[in-house]
This record gives sequence, structure tokens and C-alpha cells, in this order.
Amino acid sequence: MTLMTAEASAAIREVVKSAGASGPAFEHEDLAFFAEAMRRRAGIVLPDAKAALVFRRLAPRVRQLGLSSFAQYRERLWNPDDAEWDHVVGQLTTNHSHFFREIHHFKLLSKHLSELIEPGPCRIRVWSAACAAGQEPFSMAILLAHLLARRQDVDARVLATDVDRSILTAAETGRYTPEDLGRLPRFARPFVRQQADGTSTVVGAPQDLVSFKFHNLVGAEWPMRGPFDAIFCRNVLIYMSRADQARVVDRLARLLKVGGILCLGHSEVARGASSLIQRIEVPSSYVRI
Ligand SMILES: C[S@@+](CC[C@H](N)C(=O)[O-])C[C@H]1O[C@@H](n2cnc3c(N)ncnc32)[C@H](O)[C@@H]1O
Repeated sequence: MTLMTAEASAAIREVVKSAGASGPAFEHEDLAFFAEAMRRRAGIVLPDAKAALVFRRLAPRVRQLGLSSFAQYRERLWNPDDAEWDHVVGQLTTNHSHFFREIHHFKLLSKHLSELIEPGPCRIRVWSAACAAGQEPFSMAILLAHLLARRQDVDARVLATDVDRSILTAAETGRYTPEDLGRLPRFARPFVRQQADGTSTVVGAPQDLVSFKFHNLVGAEWPMRGPFDAIFCRNVLIYMSRADQARVVDRLARLLKVGGILCLGHSEVARGASSLIQRIEVPSSYVRI
């Protein structure tokens, strides 16, 4: 029997009660199992206080599979390579994002890229390192397409990675709601087209600039070589332990060109790599030294 805090026990009792008689059975062991799985698979910390979140996000799937308890769902997940794990990771990660989120980072990126783009042939590499459904990398690509209008001699690419395979599938489809779009800057509007069903897609040059790939920031495999001119790793470190945050920032910093920029989410700070990066005046932003 896994030991839990009184707070977690109370949260579990409350959430199971509010689900009523039809709710699947959810025990301490279940929370411990999924918390450990998410720590290993994505570096995401799910403290006891997240018991209700785990229950609410996974219970519909447990019911959909015709199971009456989380214990049965755990048995169903015995194979670590089962595709069902993609569903678990998808449900227990937070994918909220929108285009041009934290606009100050895009102003910084615009200034940085404008300085880098030379009159002759050149190469630009940027990385959205927790890209959700593509709102962030497409914002980067739209900016690049705008800056590179009528330029054929610039080799520019946006790498977009995430640990959630289901969100990467959504990103490849590239259908965005008005909430995803938020308030688009004027220069971005020609690159977004509204469809008959009310969703919008990114059209034209930005589409060809972005490559979506699976990548786990806390995994051993970091196949990308860089060096990158800019990396956005925003609103993902907050879900990780301090040790993982420091390791991730250190690895990101090493993949930046000297003078390249690293932007983190508004409540995140670079805990590692203090000798490699320096904070700059733009919030949560750093330059590789
Ligand atoms: C809140 S979204 C942030 C999206 C975007 N960066 C932004 O700021 O709008 C967090 C994203 O991080 C991804 N994520 C969580 N853990 C990850 C990991 N270990 N490696 C890569 N991506 C991860 C989630 O799947 C999710 O899409």
C-alpha cells in the first residue's frame, strides 16, 4: 500500500464521490502509478494535490474502455510500449497555448532575426521545444516568412518538438480555433485563412518552414545538433523538478549559437547553465555567451 498525504486521501475521496456511482474506482496506488509514469516519461511532477486532476482526465477513458476501476486500467497498461500510453501522456500534459503568446518574446525574436538575416545567402534555425499543437512554432514561422518575403537565398527552418504524440498529430492537421489564434499581429493575418467550419489554418510559406517531431526534454536522446539562433522552451519547465529544469536549460544552452536567444515561460527561470547564458532585459529571456 502506497503512503499518501491526508490531503491526497481527502482529494481522492472527494473526487470519487463527486463522480457518483458511475465513476471508476480510484485508489492511492493508482495515483502513485500515474505520477511515477509521468515522471519517467516526461519529467512531469504530479504531487498528491493533483489527485483530482489525474482522476478527472483519465476517468472518461477508463469508462470508455468498459473498465470499472483504475486498477484494471493499470493492468491494461502493462506493456510500456502500448500506444495507450500516448493517450495517458496526452491527458496528463497541459497543452494550452495560443499564437504569439507573450508577444514580447516575438518582438525580441524579430529584432534578433532581423540582425541575423544578411543581404546574401544565410542560414537560420529556431526551435520550439514544447510546441503543443503548433501555435508557437507557426508564430515563429509566420514571423520568419514575413521577414523573409521575396528572399529565396535564406535557408530557414523551425524545429517543433513535443513529448505528447497526440498533440503532434493535431499540430500536423493544423486546425485552429479563434481562441488558439488570439489577437494576431497585422503582419500575420495574410498567413492565416479561415475555413468553412470556423477553424483557421496556416497557409503559404510558414507551412513549409516547420517540422514537427517527437522529443522528450528529459529523455536521454537529443538528436538535434543545432546550433540554433533561438530556442523557445516556454511553459513546460514549471511542471518539472528543479533538477530536471536545470538539466534541460543546460542542454538547451549548449545547442544555442553564441549570441543566440533562449526564451522561457513567464514564471520560469533558468536554473542551470549559469556560465553559458546571461539574462537580458526582456522577461524570462537569456542570451548565449
Ligand atoms: C503549456 S504547453 C506550452 C506550449 C507553448 N510552449 C507555449 O508556451 O504556449 C506545454 C507543452 O509541453 C509539453 N511537454 C511536457 N513535458 C514535456 C517534455 N518532457 N518534453 C517535451 N515536451 C513536453 C506538453 O505536451 C505541452 O504540449
